[in-house]
Amino acid sequence: MVVVIKLPKFTPRERPWLRETLWCLASGAVLQAGPCGVDCLSRVAFSAQGLLADGRRTIPSAGGIYPLHLYVLSAGGFSMGEGAWRYDPLSHSLEEVEEPGDLFDGFLVTAEARRTYAFYGERGYRYVRLEVGHALQNLLLSLTSHGLPASVEMVALELSDRETPCARVTLRREAGAPCRGFQLEPSIALDRAFLERRSVREYAKKSVDLEALLRVLKWSLGELTPGGRPYPRLQGGYRVEAVVVASRVKGLEKGVYAFNPRSMELEPLRLGDYADELCSISLRQYCVCRAPATVVLGGEGLVSEVEAGLVAQNMYLNAVQESLGTVAVGAFEDEGLSALTGIERPLYLLPLGYPAR
Ligand SMILES: Cc1cc2nc3c(=O)[nH]c(=O)nc-3n(C[C@H](O)[C@H](O)[C@H](O)COP(=O)(O)O)c2cc1C
Repeated sequence: MVVVIKLPKFTPRERPWLRETLWCLASGAVLQAGPCGVDCLSRVAFSAQGLLADGRRTIPSAGGIYPLHLYVLSAGGFSMGEGAWRYDPLSHSLEEVEEPGDLFDGFLVTAEARRTYAFYGERGYRYVRLEVGHALQNLLLSLTSHGLPASVEMVALELSDRETPCARVTLRREAGAPCRGFQLEPSIALDRAFLERRSVREYAKKSVDLEALLRVLKWSLGELTPGGRPYPRLQGGYRVEAVVVASRVKGLEKGVYAFNPRSMELEPLRLGDYADELCSISLRQYCVCRAPATVVLGGEGLVSEVEAGLVAQNMYLNAVQESLGTVAVGAFEDEGLSALTGIERPLYLLPLGYPAR
């Protein structure tokens, strides 16, 4: 008989804040040590794949297809003892897997890529890798918020017709250094950001403030600590770069700018109005055509697609913090975008603007 563990309802906490968690993830320190009981498992699983009241999930998905699955594995480190369980977002419960294979303490993200492939063809495989990044980032943030340091290992980047294990997240047992030494203005609670993230495609006419744009970039892919960005290093490095196409940013001339993750500054690449060109490159998607600013993420190799998903998830969460809206856009003309931004392999467009009322 398959054992089903009903998880307690996801209850958002007031702390930790989004940005203290991001800072701790960048520094490799832990917020507070603690075991992961059912409340913690409930929050961690919900953060990565949870179903929201309106039928969406905590992470975006191309075409709303949701091809990913989340498994909890326990070699004895979780309170349920040894075994493997598949998370069911619909019932918010864990279903035991009958032949679990090699066990470790942590999580496995798998993909049924054929579902996205059927819709989007080859491009669909990229979308699935981007989505793996979105799920991993929420998972890592939630684990960090529970004082559980973890490491990420990519298992497979080439996807197939069958359900493929993509990433393994292993809990690290060593007691981490406590996360201290930063001064922050209060920000929104991490759990609240998970609940409020959504794709926003219609923006008010209002310009975006340069300071707000820089904060979104800083807290999504800036080096918050020496050499440490607010997401895990995949295969030992960071590969993703960001370029901003600015049309209506208060305090910034129209143009194309590279974001420097060390100095957290925007460096001009070319000045001028590129809104129409970008609109056409985005296949005239109105969210990009009307956005005051659009962030372009790119990077080499399949692993950078997962990394772009990590960064884009941070951008969604930080947009909530700044009362901005964004949407992950994967459909565009690659060559045109590369020529406009100088990014050899563009992966994502993230328009930013204040949501239209
Ligand atoms: C890999 C990926 C590619 C996407 N591409 C587009 C796109 O080209 N245009 C668009 O409007 N939305 C795009 N989206 C956003 C999804 O349509 C959106 O996440 C989905 O409708 C669920 O809505 P939600 O994000 O508000 O939960 C993409 C999302 C992902 C993850």
